[in-house]
Amino acid sequence: MSSSFQSSGQVSYELNGDVAVMTVSNAPVNALSHAVRVDLLANIEKFEEDATAKAAIIVGAGKVFIAGADIREFKRPATQPHLPDLIDRIEACSKPVIAAIHGVALGGGLEAALGCHFRVGVKGAKVGLPEVHLGIIPGAGGTQRLPRLVGYEKALEMIPSGAQIGAVDAKAAGILDDVSDENDVLAAGLTFARSVIDNSMPLRRCSELVAPAVDASVFVAAKAAVTKRARGQMSPVVCVEAIEIASKTSFADGMAKEREMFMELKSSDQHRALSHAFFADRALGKLPEIDGIAPRKLDAIGVIGGGTMGAGIATGALMNGLAVTLIERDEDALARAKATIAKNIGGAVKKGKLSAEKEQHILEEALSLSTDYASLGEADLVVEAVFEDIDVKKQVFQQLDKVCKAGAVLATNTSYLDVNAIAAVTNRPEDVIGLHFFSPAHIMRLLEVVVADKTAPDVIATGFQLGKIMRKVAVRAGVCDGFIGNRILATYRAAADAVVVDASSPFEVDDVMLEFGFPMGPYAVADLAGLDIGWATRKRKAPSRDPRERYFTFADRMCEQGWFGQKTSKGYYVYEDGARKGTPNPEVLTILAKERMENDIATQNLSKEQILDRYMAAMVNEAAKVVEEGIALRPLDVDMTLIYGYGFPRWRGGPMQYADQVGLDKILNNIKEYARDDAYFWQPAKLLEELVSTGKTFGDLNAEGGNNSVKKVSEKA
Ligand code: CAA
Ligand code: NAI
Repeated sequence: MSSSFQSSGQVSYELNGDVAVMTVSNAPVNALSHAVRVDLLANIEKFEEDATAKAAIIVGAGKVFIAGADIREFKRPATQPHLPDLIDRIEACSKPVIAAIHGVALGGGLEAALGCHFRVGVKGAKVGLPEVHLGIIPGAGGTQRLPRLVGYEKALEMIPSGAQIGAVDAKAAGILDDVSDENDVLAAGLTFARSVIDNSMPLRRCSELVAPAVDASVFVAAKAAVTKRARGQMSPVVCVEAIEIASKTSFADGMAKEREMFMELKSSDQHRALSHAFFADRALGKLPEIDGIAPRKLDAIGVIGGGTMGAGIATGALMNGLAVTLIERDEDALARAKATIAKNIGGAVKKGKLSAEKEQHILEEALSLSTDYASLGEADLVVEAVFEDIDVKKQVFQQLDKVCKAGAVLATNTSYLDVNAIAAVTNRPEDVIGLHFFSPAHIMRLLEVVVADKTAPDVIATGFQLGKIMRKVAVRAGVCDGFIGNRILATYRAAADAVVVDASSPFEVDDVMLEFGFPMGPYAVADLAGLDIGWATRKRKAPSRDPRERYFTFADRMCEQGWFGQKTSKGYYVYEDGARKGTPNPEVLTILAKERMENDIATQNLSKEQILDRYMAAMVNEAAKVVEEGIALRPLDVDMTLIYGYGFPRWRGGPMQYADQVGLDKILNNIKEYARDDAYFWQPAKLLEELVSTGKTFGDLNAEGGNNSVKKVSEKA
């Protein structure tokens, strides 16, 4: 292939003795953009003709080798030179080309390295083909070269999972020819090139290798396992198919087929949704109100309450290097909290996530237990996780106000209560924030950072910093009943209850949502969380319930019989002998039949699709209200909340992305139709109506940084 493209200077070419060094400089991650491909191709041609150069090294400038194709270019039509052709050209070189890898070689980056004749890595380097997480497959020979190099089984382990492996494992697998002792990647590459030249090492082209044959059953088993895990996501399954093709066809045919499969997935909704999730992940912490604001110091934290949440929060903080002082009401409660934390930490040790040495340090030094609030005097941040009762919380915050040092961040883990009201009992409302963790708090990734009216920007930044330290996905939320996630959950659960009473059963609704891609249906989740929690909330809210709201009694009838879900072995499902997966409880159907009879409800016929439409319409409508009111800054904040906290399938991109794909007009029409039966519940969000009338999408709002009134909320600070 000849290069007639204009160079952009993103890949340099320098001779180091008889070795040509090509350095890719495309900050921040050396993605293989069009400009980089153009330059690399030109340099390969130059190397081929450069009589002085006996070998070439490709190396990345900055922190990484190459992190893959430029994902932002995927939205545009593919332009030449295409990556697979460029990599073929590298491989076809008549002189040795060596990839010298540091940081990461991912996706197209690893594929480019596989096109080289040799690969050397420095310690700490990682390689992998993570395309599957973007809803695509490796599209530049990865599915054809990797199995030829490492064997089908290893490729089946790596490609459908997108797993990254370290340099030592990569060498053991045969991906790296050497792991250098040098820290400097260029030096490592030059040393390796020297030995290639001096020993006249023959060129090794992955496309020409033959992997040991495996039985066809290996692919059948891999496909079955991957299909089950993928829960509707296509790309992992297509990865298996592409690797299988490598076992059956010539390299050239395999490449053609891989391209076809790649292009098909690249134009799929699933790829769009997963790309949206990729960029949304990175946008969550980019907020005007904390732009350039430094977080406060965070070394030692306090946790008040060592129950389900407090013990989990303490565990997560301790495992990530923070010192924790935990406060409980009495010595017995402290002992229980300590036992829970020790069990959690022990579990992490068993799973190999933590060393026994660290466990000892955590339990003997990093964790302090006390019944005296004065022990919190040195804490940089305190998270309150006591009972969900506004009076108890107010008392706690009054005490915190007295004992905490100036500048300490005072946080509440409340699920629903008013953070402004809690802040108001202190003399420092600017230091008060909501940090809403999810159960189990040391495992669940989501953290809602709830910003109250007076919360200072550096306190918000500190909330995000705590999330980072604890490896959480932090999402900014505003104050309302349930913040982003629980508020939306309450609405779609109410829609589900109406479906159950009018037309269906909890089991059918759960099935529909499992088919949609959720790991559990809403009723199985309710059993897990404990039905008594919802019961208590319903009782608390009864006095203020709007008379126009349809109220269903079946869940109360269940609780009255002591069926609280898994913890009582009975709820919507029956859990025999402590089983975690239950079988449908037939008595629930009897209770439902009675409710219908008492209220003269004639059962309707709803298809699975109609059930799904109602469920999603309720979710999207409430989510739109949440964005409209500024509780979520952008639609993407809702999407990530639902993905990380509520099991929404990532490959659908979250409810707002899903709504864009379905069409906002269709969803709005559905809402208007349902409103004919229940106008109170199905009140369309103004934002949804506005978007439909202007032909815009939630994606457009993301691109604009949120809806305009909302942006003001964030910018005012
Ligand atoms: N293309 C375009 N932009 C990318 C990118 C890519 N492949 N990878 C990362 N970026 C961008 C991020 O969006 C981010 O941009 P902003 O600063 O504007 O938000 C910036 O680079 C830094 O990324 P991170 O914040 O993620 O930085 P990090 O240091 O935490 O992680 C990383 C670095 C490990 C490389 C991580 O970014 C990553 O995993 N990237 C994606 C890798 C990937 O999926 N590669 C496969 C691409 S598809 C492909 O290659 C197809 C093919 O077969 C041809
Ligand atoms: P829990 O009942 O398991 O634990 C509460 C603990 O607080 C008890 O151990 C109690 O002894 C202690 N406590 C009560 N008053 C205290 C005081 N004045 N000083 C010190 N300790 C005190 O409750 P859970 O489930 O841990 O909930 C705690 C908070 O977290 C609540 O606000 C809840 O809404 C919220 N939350 C709960 C979630 C869950 O799934 N359980 C999820 C997210 C938030």
